[in-house]
Amino acid sequence: MLDTNRIRKFFPAIESGRILSNNAASTQVPIQLSDLLKELIVQYDNVHRGQSQSSIVTTEIFESSYDTIAQFIGAPSRKNIILYRNTTEAINSVMYSLMTEFKNGDNLVTTFMEHNSNYVPWYGLTKEILPKFGINVECRIVKFDKETGQLDLNHLASLVDEKTKLVCCVGASNFLGTKNSIKKISKIANSSGYNQPNGEKKSYLLVDGAQMVPNVFVSIKELDIDFLAWSFHKMLAPFGVGALYAREELLEKMKPFLYGGDMIAEGMVSPEKVEYNTLPWKFTAGTPNILGTILSAQALRLLMDFSLNPGEFLYFMTNKKLESADIKIVMENIEAHEKALIGEALKILEEIPSLKIFGPKNPEDRACLVAFNYPGISPFKIAEELDKQGVESRAGCHCATLAHHYYELDPPASCRLSFYVYNNIEDVRKACLAVKEYIEYIENTN
Ligand SMILES: Cc1ncc(COP(=O)(O)O)c(C=O)c1O
Repeated sequence: MLDTNRIRKFFPAIESGRILSNNAASTQVPIQLSDLLKELIVQYDNVHRGQSQSSIVTTEIFESSYDTIAQFIGAPSRKNIILYRNTTEAINSVMYSLMTEFKNGDNLVTTFMEHNSNYVPWYGLTKEILPKFGINVECRIVKFDKETGQLDLNHLASLVDEKTKLVCCVGASNFLGTKNSIKKISKIANSSGYNQPNGEKKSYLLVDGAQMVPNVFVSIKELDIDFLAWSFHKMLAPFGVGALYAREELLEKMKPFLYGGDMIAEGMVSPEKVEYNTLPWKFTAGTPNILGTILSAQALRLLMDFSLNPGEFLYFMTNKKLESADIKIVMENIEAHEKALIGEALKILEEIPSLKIFGPKNPEDRACLVAFNYPGISPFKIAEELDKQGVESRAGCHCATLAHHYYELDPPASCRLSFYVYNNIEDVRKACLAVKEYIEYIENTN
């Protein structure tokens, strides 16, 4: 289990008295990263664009950040990691890069539990972009069970066929909390028989890992994923950087998403021909988010240290390779901690008569978040009242708009509490008891 008491001391936001319970949106930044930012600001220069010591050193730290990120998910090397602004941009980059590969009559499969980031790009591609070129591609949507919040894998299997170029699904839903079985989904995608241009006979699998990578152990090799997208602002880093993992052979063949400087091979631009840089820089057009990249990699290293032994820095600001055995322990600690928190949250919230709690009942099956509605009270009103008690929640559709319509919610909204590594059981109790007290107050005054 995590030593939350020690971890909490590193977060000025907690020291200031906030009850941080909207972590599925974004997490808070530890003091070590804000100190590091101050140090870097006086040392840095642009990367790949200077001969000064400053530029050389910044380039080294920047490039090695890609190694850290690759190691964290068990990817073979930095060549598999492309950095963008966030999960949304990473998924869009796949959409744009694969756009020219779709053939008339193809289909792609996504689910009703997706964040808009992993539905709207596919809507745009299949309903707006490809038809303009006379290419018709069907976008098929997999159902989930409204009671259990589980994805209907039989329905998924029935929608995937030899015309399915791509299967897209969320690793863990940011509304239902459901953790999907990626291994089972990748098996279905792998056996579709679709003829990919590189000769492979399978559908590609793209996983939206925004709520998965920060919370569970991810090993690319074990899960057999072709594309994985996630954001670092949900795992202790500041805003601004998201990652795309992809298999090297796919990235080698794929069209660049953005064109311009630094993504070209040095000197290889002429009116007739442009040659692209080696991976991963082929996908890094323009000056990247240098500081954000360094802080994101160091956030992973800190997460390792916080989970293993808070206050001791085995990984943070070192060149130590992230050992997969350690990553497993780190993420299993985090999962165990989150199960305890979400178990407590469910226990308290389930005591509220008529409260509709969305998603799996068993904490084993959920990410560390819970969304709910109470008949006759707007989720926005609940969130406002919680805020008056110092409890930070989020009301709305959480960009899981399809799923809210699937439940026929009007307005398409729910109130959500979500926790992370620095939350303790008291935070959960305070947040959930505030929900209970407010609803009891309304019931008693009506
Ligand atoms: C499941 C899921 N996918 C995608 C996103 C989008 O992430 P970003 O805003 O960093 O692009 C989120 C953010 O809440 C999410 O929870």
